[in-house]
Amino acid sequence: KMKLTYYGHACFLVESNGKRILFDPFITPNELAKDIRIEDIACDYIAISHGHADHIADAVAIATRTQATVICAFEIYEWMSKQGVANFRPMNTGGKWSSDFGSVKCVVAQHSSCLPDGTYGANPMGFVFNTAEGDFYYSGDTALTMDMQLIPRWAKLKFAVLPIGDNFTMGIEDAIAAADFIQCDKIIGVHYDTFGYIVIDHEAAKQQFAAAGKELILLNIGETIEL
Ligand code: NI
Ligand code: MN
Repeated sequence: KMKLTYYGHACFLVESNGKRILFDPFITPNELAKDIRIEDIACDYIAISHGHADHIADAVAIATRTQATVICAFEIYEWMSKQGVANFRPMNTGGKWSSDFGSVKCVVAQHSSCLPDGTYGANPMGFVFNTAEGDFYYSGDTALTMDMQLIPRWAKLKFAVLPIGDNFTMGIEDAIAAADFIQCDKIIGVHYDTFGYIVIDHEAAKQQFAAAGKELILLNIGETIEL
């Protein structure tokens, strides 16, 4: 079984086949995640969807300590390598890479991206993972987009991780439509509650998903589930 641990905002870790992939590390600046110590996080890969600080804040520190391979856009690779990070798989939208975890395909996300110091951060991306224990999709920060209809060509999703906080990304209603497009009924919600603009009503959100025949999973920060 795959395991997923939630570290707050849009940061989570998936363990599949003994390989640990960390996504969008933003922990030390997140008041809601103050009980998580980044020094305790072990990972083999770090996947970064785009350059905004709320997705990359702890990436250099964790990559440097763990020597994990960072999967990210080429421009983010250039920026992080100048800060001493050594191991990368620079990619771009449409590209696929196979390694010991299975494969990852970078897909379109409709959003913006620049790095914390103003450096160009490339186009934002989502990721489709195929692993021996199942397939999953992390959309990154994105609007609902017709491109999501392509995802069932590449994966039979066991679960998907989607932003649901509205304002900067999709909200609940569009995330339910996205779940239809990607043909997936088990959604882990991220990118909510961290800032005043994106606070949501958890029970109402779960009920809206349930009414559409889908499950919305909202994890406590630090919680691990099996999928
Ligand atoms: Ni963003
Ligand atoms: Mn964001």
